[in-house]
Amino acid sequence: MSDSRVWDDVDGYFTGQLVPVDDALEAALRDSDAAGLPPVAVTPTQGKLLHLLAQLQGARSVLEIGTLGGYSTIWLARALPADGRLVTLEYSARHAEVAVRNIARAGLEDLVDVRVGPALETLPKLADDNPPPFDLVFIDADKGNNPHYLEWALRLTSTGSLIVVDNVVRGGRVADAGSDADDVRGTRAAIEMIGSHPRLSGTAVQTVGSKGYDGFALARVLA
Ligand SMILES: C[S@@+](CC[C@H](N)C(=O)[O-])C[C@H]1O[C@@H](n2cnc3c(N)ncnc32)[C@H](O)[C@@H]1O
Repeated sequence: MSDSRVWDDVDGYFTGQLVPVDDALEAALRDSDAAGLPPVAVTPTQGKLLHLLAQLQGARSVLEIGTLGGYSTIWLARALPADGRLVTLEYSARHAEVAVRNIARAGLEDLVDVRVGPALETLPKLADDNPPPFDLVFIDADKGNNPHYLEWALRLTSTGSLIVVDNVVRGGRVADAGSDADDVRGTRAAIEMIGSHPRLSGTAVQTVGSKGYDGFALARVLA
């Protein structure tokens, strides 16, 4: 059996045992697909991981950069208390429209604020509102801007907040110091910032699964 077939089978087994079937999440994926959105949402086991991380944080507020159809948004928002808040930033009006419908079907519209536009424009506007520090930030948009998103995450969080950066492996190219690809350079800059920044302590983990070879970085805000 090929490696990727094994990864798929194991992910299927883990999902079957650990991730209860959920109508709103399945409908979110189905409608995202029907609307022609790219199939790049986190997997069910990764969504559950985000949910557990938010719960472990005791998160009351979450910032997400990169909404797509709202699949990861639903996982994260479901970890919040009834008076919690999730702000999610999405470049594409079409993706955001699908997400808003999916989030409403999941009954989370009162918790979730979807903001449309390039995140480097919506982040300063968000900061202008002077929001309370976010307890968790999930960075999952255009990878070339990862270091900028990490800077903004630092501005919008406080001691003990958790920052998660998705898709940091780039098919292994993240180890290529000579790469001039935007996604690789942006991801390397973010990893190096996590490693060297006095306010961050973090790590990165490679993963395999139904969406292939990938990985994520986690960073805790120290002060
Ligand atoms: C990998 S998908 C997000 C997947 C989603 N977090 C999930 O797991 O369900 C990345 C999303 O980021 C959006 N995006 C790309 N560039 C962006 C930017 N500059 N600002 C905000 N969103 C952006 C894309 O349109 C896409 O919907």
